[in-house]
Amino acid sequence: MAKILAIGNAVLDTIFSVEQHPKEDQEMRALSKTHQIGGNVNNTLYVLNQLGHATSICTTAATDSESKQLISGMQDHGIDCTHIQKFIQGSTPNSIVTLNAHNGSRTIVHYRDLPEVSFEFFAKIEIENFDWLHFEGRNIENLQGMLNISKTFLDKQPISLEVEKPRENIEALLPLANLVIFSHHYAIAKQFTDAVQLLEAMSQLAPNSNLVCTWGAKGVWLKAINNSIEHIPAIPVNPVIDTLGAGDTFNAGLIHQLLNGNSLSEACKFANQLAAQKIQKRGLDDILNVKAENRAIANIKKLSKAKATVIDVGSTGSIILILHENTVRAYENNCPHQNVPLNEAYKIDVNPFENTLKCSVHDAFFNIADGECIDGPCWGEHLTPIAIRTDEQGDIYLA
Ligand code: FES
Repeated sequence: MAKILAIGNAVLDTIFSVEQHPKEDQEMRALSKTHQIGGNVNNTLYVLNQLGHATSICTTAATDSESKQLISGMQDHGIDCTHIQKFIQGSTPNSIVTLNAHNGSRTIVHYRDLPEVSFEFFAKIEIENFDWLHFEGRNIENLQGMLNISKTFLDKQPISLEVEKPRENIEALLPLANLVIFSHHYAIAKQFTDAVQLLEAMSQLAPNSNLVCTWGAKGVWLKAINNSIEHIPAIPVNPVIDTLGAGDTFNAGLIHQLLNGNSLSEACKFANQLAAQKIQKRGLDDILNVKAENRAIANIKKLSKAKATVIDVGSTGSIILILHENTVRAYENNCPHQNVPLNEAYKIDVNPFENTLKCSVHDAFFNIADGECIDGPCWGEHLTPIAIRTDEQGDIYLA
């Protein structure tokens, strides 16, 4: 177990799950509303905590009632809140997040009028008691001094810096960190067309830093000191449930593996896997225990009475999902006639008036309600039902 201090932002998030992101001037009803403790370093520390580390946050807090909620939420996540600078002026930072229920993408509106951590406050922390320092790339004016004293006084403890957005003079900080993690948002904003171009340019500015760039579904690129650029493809995930906090989860996985003595490449592979686990579930709770059987396989809003949806569930083959009288019917995608998928020859035709679906191989017709073959070569036999459960958000899981 390592002791990790992260310096950055802690926020109260209000998350609206929506059918699609609203357009300007549009009014829309959300599918659900949840509150959670957010902010990049808070999220990263929460995941690091689950990976077995002792975590502390250095951030600022207001004195309003929401700040109590924020701090007790972080403490509930096992994060030490000793190093929080309190301000009478300003209010607890808030983010309003719209989460697209169909593809998990998130859009964030953030409000902040709270001062950032001062250099003087940070300088009083006994940073030598920590095994790793992680900085969020904000508060640039004060961060330069914080990174300078960290680099001066720490000779063994690594320093990481997250560069998520372009900020004036942030590039001056890069050589002060052992590890810099860029987001594709930063790369695009700086008009780099891809991660390779970004890392080549940044390695000129920080030749003695390890560099990583995450690029969503395209994967991760990395450049260890004195090594060439390497690419790790993203792990395909379908469906994507929630991308909020995926980058923060990646950062936690990366720090964890590097603390364990792994190479940058190995650490990125682990972090990539952890981020893929995260996007298969809402929130960051119990992030290490996302097993295949616990992933949502579909959402009820994407299903139809007029179409059979075939979902690949890995080693157990594929299953057919279809709406029937507003509930979901699930069957093994295996025709009892010749034990082949019903869509072996063509798609599975559905007759919503007769409430039947048809095997594409020899035209056996099955009742959607109970899977019985009512016409065709396997007359009287049944499709095998699959046990599923649906949560309040409409996400469907294997039971
Ligand atoms: S394999 Fe389905 S009807 Fe023959």
